[in-house]
Amino acid sequence: MQPEFQSIIEAAREARLFAYAPYSKFQVGAALLGAGGEIISGCNVENLSFGLTLCAERSAACAAVGRGIREFRGIAICADTRQPISPCGACRQVLAEFGDFPVLLCTLSGEVLETSVGVLLPRAKTGILDLD
Ligand code: THU
Repeated sequence: MQPEFQSIIEAAREARLFAYAPYSKFQVGAALLGAGGEIISGCNVENLSFGLTLCAERSAACAAVGRGIREFRGIAICADTRQPISPCGACRQVLAEFGDFPVLLCTLSGEVLETSVGVLLPRAKTGILDLD
């Protein structure tokens, strides 16, 4: 793992504490590393309608875009799970919008599984609107 990823792993752990998860009680934190070294965090924000719940990954992606950051060197995602957490399909699709970059799936106990957006969601854009 690249040493620079340590900073987003730590940021994801911290962001997790801000999770608004009164229904599931399942707190998730995510942190993106922008192309310029910026760190942009997000947490899950639940809603009584359930379907409107925003995952930590999409929360971080929206925060980044709102700061004008659209290129990423990586994302770390952290939850208090036995196995490293895996992003939902919607979040995979939203991350894939911004390219293929490393994804670090982390547990609170320190386990880190490194994968990538392209591995989690292959052929995310192929063919759509005649993109390559
Ligand atoms: N959740 C995330 O924020 N990210 C994931 O990768 C998986 C799930 C949230 C959504 C919901 O608030 C709670 O975790 C339980 O699914």
